[in-house]
Amino acid sequence: MSAIMPTYKRLPVAFVRGRGATLWDAEGKPYLDGLSGIAVTNLGHCHPRVTQAVVEQAGELVHTSNLFRIAGQEQLGAELISATGMDSVFFCNSGAEANEAAIKLARRTGHNRGTAQPTILVLEGAFHGRTLGALAATAGDKMRAPFEPMIPGFIRVPRDDLQAVHDLASNRNIVAILVEPVQGEGGVRPLDPIYLQGLRAICDEHGWLLMFDEVQTGNGRCGALYAYQRLNVVPDVLATAKGLGNGYPIGACMARGEASLALGVGDHGTTYGGSPLACAAGSAVVNTLADTRLLARADVVRERLLAAFWTDLVEPDNVAEVRGLGLMVGIEVTVPGEGLVLAALERSAVINVTAGNTIRLLPPLVMSDAEAEQLGRVVAEVVNQASEVTT
Ligand SMILES: Cc1ncc(COP(=O)(O)O)c(C=O)c1O
Repeated sequence: MSAIMPTYKRLPVAFVRGRGATLWDAEGKPYLDGLSGIAVTNLGHCHPRVTQAVVEQAGELVHTSNLFRIAGQEQLGAELISATGMDSVFFCNSGAEANEAAIKLARRTGHNRGTAQPTILVLEGAFHGRTLGALAATAGDKMRAPFEPMIPGFIRVPRDDLQAVHDLASNRNIVAILVEPVQGEGGVRPLDPIYLQGLRAICDEHGWLLMFDEVQTGNGRCGALYAYQRLNVVPDVLATAKGLGNGYPIGACMARGEASLALGVGDHGTTYGGSPLACAAGSAVVNTLADTRLLARADVVRERLLAAFWTDLVEPDNVAEVRGLGLMVGIEVTVPGEGLVLAALERSAVINVTAGNTIRLLPPLVMSDAEAEQLGRVVAEVVNQASEVTT
């Protein structure tokens, strides 16, 4: 019996080494990484700048406490603020924690304004994490039902439906709307930019906070440091994690305006959040992503990958839709989704399937054109193969 709780269905491979877009197993077999640890190693495995920063900081000072000033935290905070136009940052360790901070920040804003039962609008298809607050914001009975009762204070509305939000405008408890600019786990579904701009306008009209969960879309993944920077909509609260440390755990909840001052002394905290080591990794990532040529790779790699995919796909009817933004690529297929991941693994490529039958590709920004084409070919092959089996 395994010593590990059986909370994951694991694939039959263990990687021991990684560089750029390549992973190796213990036998030395290379795999092309089309997943980046689920949108985490956006700069590729063991990016030299991140590795150097982590190694140097680990030799200097790993952890103190948020009881003290932390120079690296102040530095990364300043870097993020300058890159985003937000006004302040709370550092934590994961995406769920970044969203918990956002939820608490919204509730605190409500209480500061005299709203006793602050309520947050969330979307159908949303995924915000597995902690109880984030889970309450997440959609889907399968994940939620075993852990009822959910914490109250959320109202769910359909995605891309501005009228549904307008219809709630008279509800005086609403303080915020929390959305992912591209729903990742929900099937790589970008929200309509017009919808997002509409949400901005509604939030401005009613004094609600527009909160973006950029845990998966952020840190270069969508071709900008944060996806909102491509969408002409600026949120009031920005939660991120995943790629911020390129594999070293770090999350951040950023805010601007009134929201940036909502949480005061004692309102929130974490032992590890914003440690010298985590922030060294974060600074290395943010400074590396300041290179716009690297961000521009998101669209180029996407195009190369999809071009090769379409070339080798035998039956276009096997694809229902291709969605996404930058290097969040979703290919919804009409063939059965299960089996595709293993079939790709047999062809030495790591891919993912989400929301049943959407192939989710999240390769690193450093993937070469040739690697992108190879990945596109493998994805076409596994779809072709699944189609042969089912017909
Ligand atoms: C949009 C989004 N929010 C939150 C999370 C949760 O992040 P974590 O697993 O780091 O808690 C995820 C993870 O997949 C995510 O995609």
